[in-house]
Amino acid sequence: MSKIDWANLSFSYIKTDYNVRSYFKDGQWSDLEETTSEELTMHMAATGVHYGQQSFEGLKAFKGKDGKVRIFRMEENAKRLQNSADGILMQPVPTELFNKAVVRAVELNLDYVPPYESGAALYIRPLLFGSGPKVGVSPADEYTFVVFVTPVGPYFKEGFKPTKQMISREFDRAAPQGTGHLKVGGNYAASMRAGKIAHEGGYSSVLYLDSKEKKYIDEAGPANFFAIKGNKYITPLSHSILPSITNMSLIQLAKDMGLEVERRKVELEELSEFDEVGACGTAAVISPIGQVDDVDNNKSYCFGDPNIAGEISTKLYNKLRGIQYGDEPDNHGWVTIL
Ligand code: PLP
Ligand code: COI
Repeated sequence: MSKIDWANLSFSYIKTDYNVRSYFKDGQWSDLEETTSEELTMHMAATGVHYGQQSFEGLKAFKGKDGKVRIFRMEENAKRLQNSADGILMQPVPTELFNKAVVRAVELNLDYVPPYESGAALYIRPLLFGSGPKVGVSPADEYTFVVFVTPVGPYFKEGFKPTKQMISREFDRAAPQGTGHLKVGGNYAASMRAGKIAHEGGYSSVLYLDSKEKKYIDEAGPANFFAIKGNKYITPLSHSILPSITNMSLIQLAKDMGLEVERRKVELEELSEFDEVGACGTAAVISPIGQVDDVDNNKSYCFGDPNIAGEISTKLYNKLRGIQYGDEPDNHGWVTIL
């Protein structure tokens, strides 16, 4: 293993020692296979590569001050992968197999879990795809499930510093009755062109509006959206956004802190009334948003000090990270300690 600069990791792929795999064939999942190979072999007519019959997950493992490794809300990722599988007619991965694969992938790569002081984490990437051949558009008979891990730093290079996001009306990430609520690769392919335009304009991400009316806020390219208004935590309710496990956790932490939680349609115009806004997700953690530019209308919405995260976002961030690293009690049973 070459030396890793833990404190300066970005969100990118670093080779680790092992990954684990299971194959669905003839009506059953195989025993977990442990491999050092980074390659996958599949049929050239696999539905995963032709018709996007594919889903992935993202969760993290953290090393605490006590040296123990904690995996955050693994069961929720298992459920979401099953939901994504159901949505695009893939064979679901049983929770027991999912959990076993995630734990094993971490155990086999313990040297890659970043040290507590670095503030980095081990990103866990489960992947499920149709690996059996079809030429007509129909679900595969065979599926491949892989879990690999890679140590990561912040998704947005600014980390816990406010960034700017851009509203895009030109591109939709997901259709109103489409697959936005599933974690399927097609949603991300659909977001790449808009994402590139945003990055070239100096924005950390696109902030998508609902694709039907372009009136309500949906979510950012790789993360959910939340806002703080007085004593309220407000987050969009929409069929075309991914049910974020981080957001679900922040909703609970906000309630624990005595905030009122509103999950509802959030109008774009409401941005002018919010005290703090942010993006949240496994990769993004909380990424405070300092400014949203509605470039089509030449309008900017600004939130607080452009260089410092807001007070409530900071409290939520510290609480969440505290639980993940084992510095705060895990009152809701979110953490699996290895
Ligand atoms: N929204 C999108 C589009 C995402 O890709 C992610 C990342 O997984 C999230 C939201 C955040 O979800 P979670 O908090 O479960 O990681
Ligand atoms: C995550 O937060 O886990 C994600 O999957 C976001 C991004 C890397 C697509």
